[in-house]
Amino acid sequence: MRLTIGVDIGGTKVAAGVVAPDGRILGDVVRHPTPTGDGEALADVIGRVVAELCGRRAGDERTEGEENGEITAVGVGIAGFVDEDRARIVLAANMGLSDDPITERIRRRVDLPVVVENDANAAAWAEARFGAGRGSDHVVCVTLGTGVGGGIVMGGRLQRGRYGVAAEVGHYRMVRHGRRCGCGNDGCWEQYASGRALVAEARDLAVTDPVRAAHLLKLAEGDISRIRGPEITQAALEGDEGALECFRAVGEWVGLGLADLAAILDPECFVLGGGVSDAGAILLEPARSSFARHVTGRATRRLADIRVAELGSTAGIVGAADLAR
Ligand code: BGC
Ligand code: NA
Ligand code: ZN
Repeated sequence: MRLTIGVDIGGTKVAAGVVAPDGRILGDVVRHPTPTGDGEALADVIGRVVAELCGRRAGDERTEGEENGEITAVGVGIAGFVDEDRARIVLAANMGLSDDPITERIRRRVDLPVVVENDANAAAWAEARFGAGRGSDHVVCVTLGTGVGGGIVMGGRLQRGRYGVAAEVGHYRMVRHGRRCGCGNDGCWEQYASGRALVAEARDLAVTDPVRAAHLLKLAEGDISRIRGPEITQAALEGDEGALECFRAVGEWVGLGLADLAAILDPECFVLGGGVSDAGAILLEPARSSFARHVTGRATRRLADIRVAELGSTAGIVGAADLAR
């Protein structure tokens, strides 16, 4: 069996695993924080996780014998614009990198064929092939993490655009003179619909209405700066009104953006991935209702289904590994 390694580099963490041809991850996922602003340090982490996974596999095979296979390639999904030759990071605002020769840096550390792709493109590929978009040839995946990423699969093919950076939906400018974005513009969707936006919403609530944010503050041990995505999701899942309000605000923005994407791309389904989608129905309901209120032709057109990613936080790993195969 030919195995490949998938490495998913997000704005905050690096996660990697060994993936079988049917999309299953074999063994544990390895995680590290993402180093920012330093291409060499980033390539070091990638080299280290690949070595760790290869070493582990070699050990496994001696004891188990089953599922043995050779690791033949490495796919790396990166949270930024990747050029058409898959050689350089053009811009990765949330990692503090631009015009970085990342592929060559990785090749100096990894002794296997390496394929680099945008992280959300990789996740979209995985969801379309093995996850919530399975069976459909027209899938748009939106990842709601530190940033907002996008991947478009149309006619069964991943759309990369002429210069590699199609589907940068997070930088769709939804608000005139809006919040500043790391890309240099302002008003980008990412500033309203990402995990960071959710956190900003919750911290804002904690400052302006501490009574309503009491449960959130308790989970963060009274420290506003410790309110992060997982705390907000937990509070919302426990029925906390303050946290639910934050999800409603972000969900409204998510649905608005999906309505615009439907006007342009007309997919059969949208798949929502990334950390914010861990909340499941809590995000899905406000997103669906906002989409239904905003999408053009809503009274008479057939509407895309909106689903939560099935592969969750591992979609990027699985997609990158599959694209490398
Ligand atoms: C980047 C994308 C990336 C997304 C999710 C955005 O800020 O521009 O390239 O896919 O974040 O990580
Ligand atoms: Na993308
Ligand atoms: Zn932007």
